Amino acid sequence: MKKKAVRIQDLSFSYPDKSAALDRISFSVSSGESLGIIGPNGAGKSTALLHLNGVLKGKGEVRILGEKVHKGNLKWVRSRVGIVFQDPNDQLFMPTVFDDVAFGLLNLGWEKEEVQNRVQRVLKNLGLEGVQDRNPSHLSFGEKKKISLATVLVLEPEILVLDEPTANLDPGSRRNFLEILEGIPKTKIMATHDLDSVWQLCSRVLLMNKGKVIAQGESREILEDEKLLEQNNLEVPHRLLLEKKE
Ligand SMILES: Nc1ncnc2c1ncn2[C@@H]1O[C@H](COP(=O)(O)OP(=O)(O)O)[C@@H](O)[C@H]1O
Ligand SMILES: [Mg+2]
Repeated sequence: MKKKAVRIQDLSFSYPDKSAALDRISFSVSSGESLGIIGPNGAGKSTALLHLNGVLKGKGEVRILGEKVHKGNLKWVRSRVGIVFQDPNDQLFMPTVFDDVAFGLLNLGWEKEEVQNRVQRVLKNLGLEGVQDRNPSHLSFGEKKKISLATVLVLEPEILVLDEPTANLDPGSRRNFLEILEGIPKTKIMATHDLDSVWQLCSRVLLMNKGKVIAQGESREILEDEKLLEQNNLEVPHRLLLEKKE
């Protein structure tokens, strides 16, 4: 049997003094697949994502590429799983774009010249060559979002995890960012309540609410289910409705 990129089994997690943020959730993601984790605010989507690289540790099992995540292999896990946070300001902290993107590689002890080559290649692929000497905090939100993605891609993870990738982007930046994601041939897991972006990018969907998995299946099966989505404070994506009318 082919190893799953991600396999989560009976995972539960509570924040201090809180009821369960995750209540025995189970799901898996095959290599090369794009999974959309959808659900209303507070469903537990971000909490679930933070278990994928061991930032949070709940009860139950998280396996990455067949390996059980534990204290002893977090470095390896984080080299395989790259997370793009919802807010780029949580990801960017260096004085220049170049320094931010180079940070991870320098940390791994790479030679300066190799770092330079790799960083420049990634920036070029994302159309960011022109801003490499700028201070990230002076750039637009859309640019910051792409730089956040660059800081993750430069480490060449096998699994790309994105928390609310389209939040706060204007329509043009949103389209641009989604096109970039579409062109990245990796296993992708994104959490969002932007169901149009899920319809565009993901072949499978996991619906969460109140820390539980409510449903999972092919994107069309879940995203067409008006009643199921409404019950969970979501709605059928506009794109899907338009396609049905045509
Ligand atoms: N750092 C935190 N401390 C305490 N409770 C938290 C924290 N982050 C999230 N929660 C709670 O955990 C639940 C799930 O939150 P979250 O995973 O952020 O949901 P989502 O990403 O789906 O909006 C919510 O009830 C939220 O209030
Ligand atoms: Mg969230």
